[in-house]
Parts: sequence; C-alpha cells; structure tokens
Amino acid sequence: MTNPSILDRLDVDDIDFAFQDTPDLHLLLARLRERKPYAVVPFAGARAVLLLTHDLVAAAFKDEQTFPARAVYTLTTEPVLGRTLQCMTGDEHRVHRAIVSPPFRRSLVTGWIEPLLEPIAHELIDRFADREQADLVAEFSTRYPVLVISRLLGLPVDDEATVLRWAHDLFYFPLDPAAAHRASREFADYVVPIIARRRAAPGADLISKLVTETVDGIALSDDQVLAFLRLLFPAGADTTMLALGNTLSALLTHPEQLAAVAADPVEQVQWAVWEGLRWEPPVGLLPRACPVATHWQGLDIPALTPVIFAVNAAHRDPAKYPEPHRFDITRRATTMLSFGQGPHSCLGSWLALAELRTGLTALVTRLPGLRLVAGADPDATVTSQVGTALRGPGALRVTWDRSHVLGRQRTG
Ligand code: HEM
Repeated sequence: MTNPSILDRLDVDDIDFAFQDTPDLHLLLARLRERKPYAVVPFAGARAVLLLTHDLVAAAFKDEQTFPARAVYTLTTEPVLGRTLQCMTGDEHRVHRAIVSPPFRRSLVTGWIEPLLEPIAHELIDRFADREQADLVAEFSTRYPVLVISRLLGLPVDDEATVLRWAHDLFYFPLDPAAAHRASREFADYVVPIIARRRAAPGADLISKLVTETVDGIALSDDQVLAFLRLLFPAGADTTMLALGNTLSALLTHPEQLAAVAADPVEQVQWAVWEGLRWEPPVGLLPRACPVATHWQGLDIPALTPVIFAVNAAHRDPAKYPEPHRFDITRRATTMLSFGQGPHSCLGSWLALAELRTGLTALVTRLPGLRLVAGADPDATVTSQVGTALRGPGALRVTWDRSHVLGRQRTG
C-alpha cells in the first residue's frame, strides 16, 4: 500500500486548469481559499497544486530551488524562443541577467525609454481619434507594446505589420506551433544581419547595448542575443498588452473611477495602473513544477508535481487586501507579485509601468468621455488567452465625446 499523498483528493474535478477558463474564476478561487491555502486541481490530465494565498505565492516565487523556472520553460518556450533567461539557473542566469539588465534599470527607463513612449501612443490614437468608435484592444493595446519593442530594437517602422505577426505567432505557440516556429525563423533571418551591423558599429539602440555589454569578461553570443530578443515579444509585449487591456476594462466598467483618472491623470493614472495590475494581473495562473519530492510550507509535494502560482488569487487574498474583489484606485497598493519575485522576477517591470502610465494618460487625455459602446459590456470581460496563465479582454469597443476630441499634445 502506498502512503497517502496530497494529490489523492481533487478539490475541483470539472475544470482542467491547463486549458479551461471559467467565467467565475475569481469566485471559484476565493471559495477554494476559504477551505485551505492551496487546492488540488486537474491540470493537463495530471493533478496540480494550486497555491492560493499571498504568502504561499510570494514564498514560491522566491524559492527557485524547489520550483526552478527551467523545469517548465525548457518545455514551453525553449523550442521556439531558444535558451532564454527563463531556462537558466544559478551562475549562468546571474551573469546573463546582469548583461541584459542595464537598459531596463529604472534610471535608464526614465531617461532613455520614456521619451520614446508618448509619440508612439499618440501615433496610434491619431489613427482612430477622428472616428466615432474604436476597439482599444485591436487598435491600441495590441499594437502599442509591440511598437515600443520594435523602436527600442531600432527595427524599421515600415515593418510594423510583420513585427505584429511575429509577436502574435510567438504568443500563440501552444495553439499553433508551426506558425510560431515560422515566426521564430523569420525573426532570426531578419535580425541576425542587424546584430552583425550593430556589432560592427554600435548605436544607441537596445541591440547595440546587448552586443557591447560584458559581465565577468563574458559577452552574449549571437544566439543568446537572438533568444533574448525573441523573449521580448511574449514576455514584454504580450504581458503589457494584457495589462493595459485589464486596466482599461476595469476603468471602463467603473466609469466614476475612469472620470477621476481623466480629471487628474498626473496623480491618478499611476494608481489606476497599480490597481489594474492587482485586480486582474495579466500573468494570472503561472504554471511551475516541483521536480523532486519536497516538504514545503507544511505541504508534502510529490516529485514532478505541477504547481500553479495563482497570482490572481494572491491578489484577492483578504488577509492582504481588504475587500479584495472591489476595484478601487484609492487603494494605492503597489502589487509587485504581478511581476513575480525572486531570481526570475520581471526584468522589464519599470518599462512596463512606464508604458502603462504613458498609454493610459494619452488615451484619457485625447479621448474625453471615453466609455464602452452601449451593449458592448461583455467584450470588456477579462478571459484567459492562449492557455489559462495569461488573462485579458478580447475586445474593448469604446466611443468618446467627439466634439471635445483633443489634438496631439504632450500629456506627460
Ligand atoms: C505588465 C507587464 C508585465 C508583466 C505583468 C510581467 C510579468 C512577469 C512575470 C510574472 C515574470 C516572472 C515569470 C516567472 O517567474 O516564471 C516576468 C519575467 C520576465 N519579464 Fe516581465 N512582465 C511584464 C512586462 C515585461 C516587459 C515590458 C519586459 C521587457 C523587457 C519583460 C521582460 C521579462 C523578462 C526578460 C523576464 C524573465 C526574467 C528571468 O527569467 O530572469 N516583462 N515578467
């Protein structure tokens, strides 16, 4: 007879957490957490431990030894992106991360990157501001972070449609691996000659910074630069796209708070961004694994158990946030679990925050009276995207007071 295991009893039996979304996800997670701080749930035909409290999720993020990122990412991203930071551990990860980090430090984001953001946001709004309606997902939040990445890389602007397709196809790797591999190859063909040119004559762009930086006498090879650049699409562009969509969705469904943001963007936008990240974090249910049997935080977890870091449950843990289901920009909580914690925490969090602030400021300033088109409310619903890990709205059909539409101006 085998010993009883934590996995013997399922707490949910009708939803597979690898593939299936559920309309009442937050309610389900809250009910499960009322019973205990974790739940055992179906996951891709196996059973996973779903961590539900802020304390457990924060502790798990910091514990790379028990839940090494590479256990999952070598399977889910390495085949198409190459060997990225997420597949590395220990010294290799430390050195590689130190080489790529400088351009993403807070001071550089403020001085070098922030001035690039506002013109991109306005360019996109210019394309629809004269119309009566727009879908902010298709016409703004999907495009803006991809354009930011292409400009940072110094890619020619006339390739916008191709770059958008690469970003889309790399994102949808789990659903369409063939398209993702094609995008990965096309991106390599396109960018390898650019890497060579920047090695020969470095400029002020991100690729030049990546090819010239060294740490402990180590520099990145072309393959390593290429893998990092590919990672910027799913890790940097898609997450920011979803975060912007989630915050807009929250504000559009809480019009009085949107009005408060529009009335004082300099003060309120930053808090709307943080509350949006708390209320509906784009990386909502992050799958990891526990490769070896362990006794962790009072739980006996068998070897090879999938473990899901439920950031979205942690952000609605009443022990951390009073009245957690209420969207409230006056909460003023800086919820860093959105960006992970520990060695693999988000490298681009300062960039992401700057993008979100700038994008939202431009929208509320240029489009007075911004609101959902009547009858479009269901579109503002945040659902899972691709798998269940990432969450955002599918569409945000909006209108605004056209008689007051403001022209392009500095909003920052
Ligand atoms: C709101 C937008 C963003 C969110 C919510 C987000 C979230 C996250 C999270 C949760 C992780 C940790 C994943 C894990 O532990 O497995 C992460 C890692 C990472 N993020 Fe972000 N991210 C965002 C934007 C960005 C941007 C703009 C960049 C661009 C530079 C970026 C680059 C990265 C990289 C390179 C890693 C891997 C770090 C490592 O493994 O050492 N992210 N992000």
